[in-house]
Amino acid sequence: MNTDWHTIIIGAGAAGLFCAPFAAAAGPTLVMDHAKKPGEKIRISGGGRCNFTNMYAEPSNFLGQNPHFPKSALARYTPWDFVALVDQAGVKWHEKTLGQLFCDEKSTQIVQMLTQRLTDAGVTLSLGSTVSAVQKEPQGFQLDTSHGRLRCRNLVIATGGKSIPKMGATGFAYDIARQFGHDIIDTQAALVPFTFPDGRFSALSGVSLPVRVWNDRASFEEALLFTHRGLSGPAILQISSYWQPGGGVHIDLTHGLDLLATLRAQRQSAGRRQLSTELSRHLPARLVEFLATEWAGLVDLTQRLADQSDKALEALVARLSDWQLTPSGTEGYRTAEVTLGGVSTDGLDSKSMMSKTVPGLYFIGECVDVTGWLGGFNFQWAWASARAAGQHIADS
Ligand code: FDA
Repeated sequence: MNTDWHTIIIGAGAAGLFCAPFAAAAGPTLVMDHAKKPGEKIRISGGGRCNFTNMYAEPSNFLGQNPHFPKSALARYTPWDFVALVDQAGVKWHEKTLGQLFCDEKSTQIVQMLTQRLTDAGVTLSLGSTVSAVQKEPQGFQLDTSHGRLRCRNLVIATGGKSIPKMGATGFAYDIARQFGHDIIDTQAALVPFTFPDGRFSALSGVSLPVRVWNDRASFEEALLFTHRGLSGPAILQISSYWQPGGGVHIDLTHGLDLLATLRAQRQSAGRRQLSTELSRHLPARLVEFLATEWAGLVDLTQRLADQSDKALEALVARLSDWQLTPSGTEGYRTAEVTLGGVSTDGLDSKSMMSKTVPGLYFIGECVDVTGWLGGFNFQWAWASARAAGQHIADS
């Protein structure tokens, strides 16, 4: 292997793979990864179909200490720019819901598209490679690697966040950032299911329904899924990014229903019906059964509709519209789709993703303190931040 490179990118995930062909326009470029295959998270993403972008991606879909930071990169590389590449590669796609674009066939088509771009640009991809030390030199960087000592002018850190350590996620980016004097915003598992003690919802495992879920920071209208260990589904994954340990969440189980009007009408026409029977016509029966026990002493769902006053119906609907729960925790990095926090954007230039204090050192993708919502936003950040860095290397 050559020992002198114009650019070395560490991490052959979404961001590293996408950055390389842009950087290669300026000189020899090497992408290194300790994994045996590139783009493994792309492969498993979107249930194997890769939700590769979101056509409505905007800075407001991202969390981070500085909400303005992602604006520049996102504006200069839009979802439609990536869709154009996907079209060019002949990969068929569709919108599933809420602007989320998925491959019609397999997520590996996106990995193939990205690795083909590396080949076309003459980028060297070195898998199963490790980096044990990085030092600054007057004209760039010196790396101690499993291929010996390598030198480069530009060093791009694209090693992602901490989620799914089993797949090779490490805190490498944070270590390098700290080494070069950058701050790290505390990291936390995000887009992750909630857990509750003692299998509280295990009887409901597999039950799913549309809800609105909210706390004092955000609100989402998507599906909720009960699991053996707690709560999951898109609505829960979304709110988990805005949740702090000890915090509560509110769930509107009547989302999309005009339940009060329905109950009032049914009281007239089917007054002998039990409340639980009527509720089971609108909500999953297993959930109604569960709530009857959970709320025993507060509400008696065995009562007849005809025996309910307006006030009683209003109180029942209010309870169903604002079910307040306090998770004991989350499933953590083991299953989290992303890592909240990371390399502080204070130390990075938002146009190029380059360190403000160490010229030639770049941080891109998930390792940066920019975290997207569920729905293709995290890949869009990976593409946009990678393009910003790669283009800057090419232009300088
Ligand atoms: P990424 O994690 O992709 O790549 C980092 C690379 O660095 C890896 O190849 C790793 O092996 C390598 N690496 C780490 N440490 C290293 C070290 N010390 N030395 C050498 N190499 C090292 N997003 C989305 O928008 N749509 C979706 O459908 C999904 N679906 C999804 C499903 C699941 C199960 C997960 C876990 C995540 C998603 N995501 C997602 C999130 C998305 O996968 C994620 O945000 C991007 O992959 C981040 O891209 P990066 O390139 O920054 O990191």
